[in-house]
Amino acid sequence: MMRTIAVAIAKGGVGKTTTSVNLGAALAAMGRRVLLVDCDSQDQVVRFLGVRSQVRAGLSHFLVARTAEERNSAVLEARENLWVLAGGVGLTELKRWLGKQSKSDTILKERLVPREGALDYVIYDCAPGWDILSVNILCAVDEVLSPVALQAPALQGLQAFLTYIQSVQKLNPELRLRYLVPTMFDKRLKQSRSYLAQLQKAFPAQVCEPIRSNVKLSEAAGLGRTIFEVDPEASGAEDYEALAWRVDQDA
Ligand SMILES: Nc1ncnc2c1ncn2[C@@H]1O[C@H](COP(=O)(O)OP(=O)(O)O)[C@@H](O)[C@H]1O
Ligand SMILES: [Mg+2]
Repeated sequence: MMRTIAVAIAKGGVGKTTTSVNLGAALAAMGRRVLLVDCDSQDQVVRFLGVRSQVRAGLSHFLVARTAEERNSAVLEARENLWVLAGGVGLTELKRWLGKQSKSDTILKERLVPREGALDYVIYDCAPGWDILSVNILCAVDEVLSPVALQAPALQGLQAFLTYIQSVQKLNPELRLRYLVPTMFDKRLKQSRSYLAQLQKAFPAQVCEPIRSNVKLSEAAGLGRTIFEVDPEASGAEDYEALAWRVDQDA
């Protein structure tokens, strides 16, 4: 069964793209076939993977394409087992286009349908805000994975985001918040430990092992490489590999 996961939360700078890319890479290294869909106009996924110069088209082209050939050419093979639909500036146009369609909430679900057996995971790296594309993504997936930076505002943002999820459940009853991934964990900081404990208490089933704060994750992204390519011994590599195992076990 193909898994569809939105890496989403209404807040920016919490590790959504870092998680999408490194979780995707870890799953790909385990032999899973993964498509990363960049739904943010900042176009970070292709930067983090160092393939920006190879991008000819992306998600917006994919959705308006009329032929299978056009659709296929929008997908970029970034690594072995890891494909990307780029985001970028075209998304602004796309949102406008989506707004003009009838049944606009489910266009993505209807059009992004991989060939049976072609992929094991479709992972959507979401933008922080809340708009017609976010609704489309949450209608197209079964699972939500929310990174939560262990800082107070992120915990507050989570409550608001849960309300969004509930509102979309009317359109997509399958949708559920399946994973909460604490990010930027620093066990030396009392605040960090206490936010983690709060999260574990409130969401015992969803909370995963935290991703520790690790500057190598930023460095890798800046180099256009995954953490596994830059420093497989780094805590970030260990943490994202553990997350991939947890997610894959639930298949
Ligand atoms: N575990 C971590 N430790 C240290 N820095 C991190 C970690 N996760 C993400 N970052 C950094 O935090 C910033 C925001 O991360 P990013 O994944 O782009 O967030 P988002 O996609 O939610 O906006 C980036 O500079 C990234 O390198
Ligand atoms: Mg991002």
